[in-house]
Amino acid sequence: MLSARSTADEIMDDAAQTEAAFRTALANLELINRVTLAYRPTLAFLDRVRRVARPERLSILDVGAGGGDMLRRIAAWGARRGVALELAGLDRSPWAEAQAQATGTPVARWFTCDLFDLPEGERFDLVICSLFAHHLPDPALVRFLRWLDARARLGWLISDLHRHPVPYVAVWAAVRLTRMDPMVVHDSTVSIARGFVRADWERLLAEAQVAAEIRWAVPFRWAVSALRRTA
Ligand SMILES: C[S@@+](CC[C@H](N)C(=O)[O-])C[C@H]1O[C@@H](n2cnc3c(N)ncnc32)[C@H](O)[C@@H]1O
Repeated sequence: MLSARSTADEIMDDAAQTEAAFRTALANLELINRVTLAYRPTLAFLDRVRRVARPERLSILDVGAGGGDMLRRIAAWGARRGVALELAGLDRSPWAEAQAQATGTPVARWFTCDLFDLPEGERFDLVICSLFAHHLPDPALVRFLRWLDARARLGWLISDLHRHPVPYVAVWAAVRLTRMDPMVVHDSTVSIARGFVRADWERLLAEAQVAAEIRWAVPFRWAVSALRRTA
């Protein structure tokens, strides 16, 4: 059943969602992100950027930023490490921007648009995304990999789910036991089924002709990244 990436739809991708339903789902997602150590691969990538490129300041775009929880962790990372940050979020749902504002996400800019509609001239030192890539079907992912390489001056990171029966069953049970929002109950297992194994990333990167490193991230994620020494 999990032998290939699923093409099942997520409720979250249905533009007819109400603001209340979408924002409740984002609040649930923040809790899931905390429990599943979802911030770690991104913060570890930022530490690697700091070691390799020694930046004093960084502009960072989070694609599919949801309620902005990753951006808030990145802001705290910048304050801890003494790196000045100019943060930006992008999400096609207007309810994501509302949730990011309500939770005090410290962004300089926010784009409410499909990622492929971001104005042509926009470039950032780093572009990151978490729990976003699995929303894209394979052809769009190949386009996204090229897009990342073109939009990020210094580097980029995709952090996303490993497609495997163990996280699938664990998440199926956990979201029901903790009485998560119905959108999250449905989308959580669909997300894992739409997720990746290493061979998917090898195939997609080869098709896009983009060079990147594929790393395993505990407990059940892939961190796919590219990093240059200078912007
Ligand atoms: C599962 S949520 C992840 C949110 C956040 N990154 C996190 O880790 O909790 C995926 C987000 O991607 C957004 N999204 C999906 N497809 C998109 C697209 N083509 N362009 C921009 N945003 C998109 C959705 O609106 C949603 O907020």
